Amino acid sequence: MSDQPSRPHLTTIAARSGEFATPVSSAPLVEPIYQSTVYAFPDLEALEAGVAGQPDAYFYYRNATPNGSTLERAIAALEGTDAAACASSGMAAISAAFLSVLGAGDHIVTDERVYGVTYALLRDELPRLGIQVSFVDALDLEAVAAAFRPTTRLLHVESLTNPLMTVADVPRLAERAHAHGVLLSVDNTFASPAVFRPAEHGADLITHSLSKYLSGHSTAFGGVVAGRAELVAAARLKLVRLGGTVSAFDAWMTMQGLKTLGLRMRAHSGNAQAIADVLQNHPRVKRVYHPGLESHPQFRLADGLYPEGFGGMLSLEVEDAPTFVKRLAGRIPLAPSLADVVSTLSHPWSTSHRALSEADRRRLGITPELLRFSVGIEDISDLLEDLEGALV
Ligand SMILES: Cc1ncc(COP(=O)(O)O)c(C=O)c1O
Repeated sequence: MSDQPSRPHLTTIAARSGEFATPVSSAPLVEPIYQSTVYAFPDLEALEAGVAGQPDAYFYYRNATPNGSTLERAIAALEGTDAAACASSGMAAISAAFLSVLGAGDHIVTDERVYGVTYALLRDELPRLGIQVSFVDALDLEAVAAAFRPTTRLLHVESLTNPLMTVADVPRLAERAHAHGVLLSVDNTFASPAVFRPAEHGADLITHSLSKYLSGHSTAFGGVVAGRAELVAAARLKLVRLGGTVSAFDAWMTMQGLKTLGLRMRAHSGNAQAIADVLQNHPRVKRVYHPGLESHPQFRLADGLYPEGFGGMLSLEVEDAPTFVKRLAGRIPLAPSLADVVSTLSHPWSTSHRALSEADRRRLGITPELLRFSVGIEDISDLLEDLEGALV
């Protein structure tokens, strides 16, 4: 018998092909997408180090990927938190944040104005797990404090609410929560860390839908929980066990968008303020909801908390919403998401808040006439011309 190893068969050569070399004298400027669901180890010792969670040793895609970690470091730096854990959607991030703090017998207090699917999660799913939920008007600090019980663990609000742009008084909500030993969770999706950083005002857990301002181009999907290291570690454990971590591709795509967050948010904020100023005086517009208008009930609070603007969101009621929407189609499309560089309209009554009863929607100010306007970064004169043309 020859001591030369025999030539492997074609099927073996094919299966083992694709060996790659990591460049040693140069490095890609942009991190590549690590589209491998598993990592190989030279020996058991290295495997043990990987599974034990060495920061630069990955072993299985659902636990962590280099692209996910890169995005997490970037978001933690932007939010000013110790850490962040990325999720497969905003709802996965919010669910993980809730479930990392709450168990059977615990109680959560939430603003009643939260995003419709968050509302449905709190109304329909958490009680099935033995978690009690109180919906309150979080603008009323006394009502918030009065809702706390000995079993309350979490208070949840949105920094700018979807869709009516009410402004959460995060510093005072944090004070009230902490006085009762309660953690404050803030959904910061509408604001983004470019205009508001809840951790600087005492929030403990911060969540985002990544498909909104953080990525900015309606091409990436995911969510994130940011906060102190131990709270993020607990949320990450839920994401891993419930199977809700972000994909490498979505993390990578979000990272590309994130690089221009500051520039985009300046343009979004400027355009939205200019449009709110013009529309509030338009004879065919019944109402505009934007925190930069003096008519907004939290104008003073908003001015103090948001020195760099309010982002690109506003809502409005016009005389004839169906005609307005039709006239804008092709330039400002009806698309039920937000925060793209291009302007879009949405109809909360039939989309984001559909899970609420008609009575609850009306009580919260979400009427069939209400349109949510995600103002993009187009030239402001073109946007104003489009709007004027649709309001004749
Ligand atoms: C304020 C807010 N929070 C959370 C979510 C949920 O995020 P996702 O759709 O990524 O699950 C949304 C979605 O629109 C939202 O607007």
